[in-house]
Amino acid sequence: MALSSLVSANSHTSFFCFLLLLCLSKGVPVYGEKKAHKTYHVVDVKTLDPKPYCIESTRDQSKRETLKVVHRHGPCSHLNEDQASTPTLIEIMSHDQSRVDSIQKRLRVNSDGNGLEGSKATLPTKSGRLIGTGNYIVTLGFGTPKKDLTLVFDTGSDITWIQCEPCVRCYPQQEPVFNPSTSQTYKNLTCNTPQCSQLRERGCSTDTNTCIYGVDYGDRSFTRGFFATDTLTLIPSDVFPNFFFGCGVNNQGLFNAAAGLLGLGRDPLSLVGQTASKYGNYFSYCLPTFSSSSGTLAFGKEGGPTNSASLNYTQLSTKSNGPSFYFIEVLAIKVGEQTLSISPSVFSSSGTIIDSGTVITRLQPEAYAALRTSFQQQMRNYALTQGPDPFDTCYDFSGHDTVVVPGINFVFGGNVEVPLDFSGIIYYPDPTSQTQGCLAFAGNGHASEVGIFGNQQQQTLDVVYDVDGGKLGFGTGGCS
Ligand SMILES: *[C@@H]1O[C@H](CO)[C@@H](O)[C@H](O)[C@H]1NC(C)=O
Ligand SMILES: *[C@@H]1O[C@H](CO)[C@@H](O)[C@H](O)[C@H]1NC(C)=O
Repeated sequence: MALSSLVSANSHTSFFCFLLLLCLSKGVPVYGEKKAHKTYHVVDVKTLDPKPYCIESTRDQSKRETLKVVHRHGPCSHLNEDQASTPTLIEIMSHDQSRVDSIQKRLRVNSDGNGLEGSKATLPTKSGRLIGTGNYIVTLGFGTPKKDLTLVFDTGSDITWIQCEPCVRCYPQQEPVFNPSTSQTYKNLTCNTPQCSQLRERGCSTDTNTCIYGVDYGDRSFTRGFFATDTLTLIPSDVFPNFFFGCGVNNQGLFNAAAGLLGLGRDPLSLVGQTASKYGNYFSYCLPTFSSSSGTLAFGKEGGPTNSASLNYTQLSTKSNGPSFYFIEVLAIKVGEQTLSISPSVFSSSGTIIDSGTVITRLQPEAYAALRTSFQQQMRNYALTQGPDPFDTCYDFSGHDTVVVPGINFVFGGNVEVPLDFSGIIYYPDPTSQTQGCLAFAGNGHASEVGIFGNQQQQTLDVVYDVDGGKLGFGTGGCS
């Protein structure tokens, strides 16, 4: 068969990659993405994240007032001093699955009309709300004088909370536990304040008339304590007196040495809602790769990406059965030059949320099957190996200096096409070795379960939540 007919055939991508592999033998420079629309990625394996050391950001931070975001378990995290507390891949993936299960349970339960949102006089023991592991951390100031505390941030839940003295039960954290009695501005809320009644899970300590909050994350993690206000310092110039948060004295969970959780969901009590008069329900972030310190979280339009002209916006929507979540619409997925043949109703019938706390993107079973088939076809040059759950498409990259993988682009509502970074395509189960790489996606168990666009796929993208404008912006080449 003539070479030209092979190249022009519809299945030419993998053949082209195969040619490229031959060209890219040892010593030949790597060219990076040859085509602007990232049909494939050519990667020099040795240059890749994850690295065992922190790659410091070189960006000039002086012009933008942003919070620095780093990966919780990566080498840039200052919470990593106790190596023994670093979870294994199996633990990370099992927490991730718990989070996914609890998101799906919450949406399912509520749609049955047995919602857990109703007012409850006592704290339920189990609410099906989110598990709070998260993966990305930021440091903010609580109280007067200000104490810096590092929290995981979470677009899938609303209430911000920190561990507080006197601890009835606190998990170990790196920073000293917040002691409200040392803050001149700390106040307990009384039970009859409107913010106390807005809590989905609340109680009242009747002898002292103190409002009690609770959040159960659906696995075995929870937090309980006093619902309170104090001064929150986001960045030195942005100080919020009387910020409502949970002062948690009874906390259990996999929050991994962080001092608590920053809730960025859609509820008026989330940080986004409480700061709306200043920031207009607008925030943005760029999640860095595992070993990079270049991530940011910013509030308000001014803090957003500097190259905002190059953002493309898709619509954000809400669903009454999941009022905290940010719903987006997936129209299509492209692998290399192939647009997967997936009926749009596969995506639309269950819906999709974007979530900062879920690691691995979950797709509807039919969509995942189509992605896997196409990816495997285009990766025929590598040996498939057995990988850890939830991955079922893993490759042995040992002996390869360079790896060529097809690009994966998501097409969102409004035909916004977002090319994923290499880190959103291949996940390395062992963060110290690049010999095994897995397709960084998983399928849901059932077609009715919501799709989740997770944080591994969001890495290095600028993601802008313009909640009032009803739109979500994506930009490539973020974190720089
Ligand atoms: C907040 O309420 C708890 C429980 O009633 C109490 O122990 C604590 O002293 C109160 N803190 C302040 C600052 O009032
Ligand atoms: C936005 O969309 C245009 C047209 O599809 C595309 O050329 C551009 O690369 C996109 N920008 C980003 C940041 O994705």
